[in-house]
Amino acid sequence: MKIRTKPFRILLCLIAAGFFMPVLKAEDKQDVVPNWVRNSMEYAQVQAKKMLPEVLKTEKLPRSFERGLCEIDDWTSGFYPGVLWYLYEYSGDDFWKSNAEKVTSFLAEQQYNTGDHDVGFRIFCSYGNGWLLTGNKEYEKVIVQAARSLASRYNDKTKTIMSWNPNERRDWKFPVIIDNMMNLELIYEAYKLSGDERLKDVAISHADQTIKYQYRPNYSCPHVIDFDPETGAFRKMDWNNGFSDPEIAEWSRGQSWGLYGFTMMYRETNKEEYLKQAEKIADFLLNHPNMPEDLVPYWDYVSPKIPTMRDASAGAIMASALLELSTFSSQGEKYFKAGEKMLKSLASDEYRADPVCNGNYILRHATGNFLRGSEVDGTLIYADYYFVEGLLRYLKLTNGKPLFALK
Ligand code: GLY
Repeated sequence: MKIRTKPFRILLCLIAAGFFMPVLKAEDKQDVVPNWVRNSMEYAQVQAKKMLPEVLKTEKLPRSFERGLCEIDDWTSGFYPGVLWYLYEYSGDDFWKSNAEKVTSFLAEQQYNTGDHDVGFRIFCSYGNGWLLTGNKEYEKVIVQAARSLASRYNDKTKTIMSWNPNERRDWKFPVIIDNMMNLELIYEAYKLSGDERLKDVAISHADQTIKYQYRPNYSCPHVIDFDPETGAFRKMDWNNGFSDPEIAEWSRGQSWGLYGFTMMYRETNKEEYLKQAEKIADFLLNHPNMPEDLVPYWDYVSPKIPTMRDASAGAIMASALLELSTFSSQGEKYFKAGEKMLKSLASDEYRADPVCNGNYILRHATGNFLRGSEVDGTLIYADYYFVEGLLRYLKLTNGKPLFALK
């Protein structure tokens, strides 16, 4: 039958385009959220809200229950703003948006910090998430400036970024740490925003050198490696976190940083070697004889005494990375199921922070630096950040939407 009247044709087109589909209100959207995720997200909102008054008053950022609030040049200062951005993404509530904007602005001067690689954590978790969620043009400028600050630490001989400054006592001339892989995300985003090819080259070169010099044949890595900045020659493996023998140490958070970093670099570059690297790291960790049954790692996979303290942050980073890896890999289902299991463990009472003993954090049983006796078996803001990120990724995947298109 031919549709003759114009109003009727318009009506049909609107129906076909889904115009009259019921618009999901925030409460309805929550109906499709599994209970264990919703409970964790509600707890995250309760806890983050309790932190706010002191943060707004002091302009300092939460680091851990043990260490309290930190100055903005601390490596962890971007994570609380990032948690607020994620809570805005989850809830759509302007309360979280306006407070995320406020606490993000505290970090503005960090875009010029060239003192270490951590400018990536500080700026990408705060301004980066804010930019991805709002498209704020001012945030774009901060991201590009921060990436230039980070890239200023690149050396043409070592073909890497210098993560920390030289240290005579430790005999470090040009130290590179596995954590630095995470901060290539800031550089890559800035390349896409600015078109500055040098930024892209720096990120790719650093990742390539990390594969070449930091990883052992079994796809584990030490925390630190060192180069000669004059010749570019590799000098040694070393430790600062994890177990103290750099030949065999498998610091769990470091293994998770690497897995996350190479998954992210594959997302950005489509280079097959990064996907392969991420898959090999994931397989090494998931098949590790010292991986606990609930998949929340000990502080080092080769700690001399196992069982020992867990590191929920290593679990949260790994869970979030595995969920992203599941979207790229031909073995995606395996990685998705492992990521889901880790998140469910972290969402259980065993890992939920206790308001009396753990303050206003979300997770407990996280370990900052075991051998140095710092933040052991407690709370860490970056455990909370990657846990909330992992839950959001889980929701996006289980709604059937590809993760990388949404970010
Ligand atoms: N990036 C420092 C740490 O993971 O402890």
